Amino acid sequence: MDYDSDTESDAYSMEAASESGISSVTSYNVDQSMRSASPVSVMSIDSTMQLFKREYGRELNNYSDVYNLPADEEELDRLDLQHQMFIEIFGEKYAPCMADVLEDEDGPTEKKSCLDLGCGAGSWITDVARDFPHVNAVAVDLIPMQATRDMPSNLRSEVDDINLGLEHYFADFNVVHARLIAAGVRDYHRMIDQLAHVVRPGGLVDLSEFDFYIYDINHQRVLFDRDNDIRAPWWGRWMHFLHDAVKAKGGDVDAATNLYGWVSQNPFFEDVTYTEHWLPIVPEPRVGPNAARMKKIDETMKSNVTTFLGSGRPLLLGNGMPEPLVTLLEERAAREIDERKVPQFTRLQCVTARRKLSPPSELS
Ligand SMILES: C[S@@+](CC[C@H](N)C(=O)[O-])C[C@H]1O[C@@H](n2cnc3c(N)ncnc32)[C@H](O)[C@@H]1O
Repeated sequence: MDYDSDTESDAYSMEAASESGISSVTSYNVDQSMRSASPVSVMSIDSTMQLFKREYGRELNNYSDVYNLPADEEELDRLDLQHQMFIEIFGEKYAPCMADVLEDEDGPTEKKSCLDLGCGAGSWITDVARDFPHVNAVAVDLIPMQATRDMPSNLRSEVDDINLGLEHYFADFNVVHARLIAAGVRDYHRMIDQLAHVVRPGGLVDLSEFDFYIYDINHQRVLFDRDNDIRAPWWGRWMHFLHDAVKAKGGDVDAATNLYGWVSQNPFFEDVTYTEHWLPIVPEPRVGPNAARMKKIDETMKSNVTTFLGSGRPLLLGNGMPEPLVTLLEERAAREIDERKVPQFTRLQCVTARRKLSPPSELS
């Protein structure tokens, strides 16, 4: 696409990161006892670093060329709300075996530790730090966790780009969690292969992604093959353009589809589980004993998705879509979600696996 958009790009100068050759930064002093030797430098953020830039009226991270969703208060509030909604939908906060993996053990074992890659607002990892106070929790993102959020003392925020590699985390963690980060990850398969070394023997990886498609009431994929065919379903149409924009930026839009295969085929993992959740973006009518609970979830989903339509603006406009078209899609999709005539679903695909206690024999 090559449209003429309202290029309101207002990028600040980037004195840090790529230009200076710094490939990994942290907002807190790193406890070296928690780290393996790292091929990348780790340093404290200083005042010369410009971590944010403004584009199309939103604040974005200034660190990654790939991830172009906002990093401002509106987006972080949305992610926080979405986290609470997921707990309500899934009926649990953590993968079933996580408490066992993080159990405090007597004796000369290493302190248990948990890493959240692409933590966003930090809602999940903050819960971990509070629910497992004996655990060292580390939150990684392109932006530091916001200082206004109450930070448990066993939680550390690091600014880092997953695309630069995870070698500096090798053998450091008992649990590694990543949720909805594929839009900023160039090579998700490589990331999984690296996670096999980040997670300690017996440890847990917990990954969840959605596939940038929408599904009908029978959970069949709705396909959109022509960009100039602008008509309902509008949420799906908007998502179709978002898929293309994420892909154009280098995000791994096929990560969710391949997640189970990539983890299962990795010889370091075992006990691989797969779960999918059909998230009701445009819900069906609610009847029966569960209706009150589902209606509450539907309201939260509506608020989340309506805000997300605005979050996609920098990506879509940055990919060359004309502003009137982006606005039209947003308005029609929001109306569709409000009117609830045609149910539409997003599929969240979740994979967990345990790191084998000993390396696979052919690799040892
Ligand atoms: C959609 S949000 C999800 C946040 C959180 N995982 C959650 O479920 O609430 C994606 C987050 O991943 C981060 N992210 C994306 N690509 C990244 C990368 N290459 N390195 C580090 N963080 C990344 C983004 O900055 C953003 O905060």
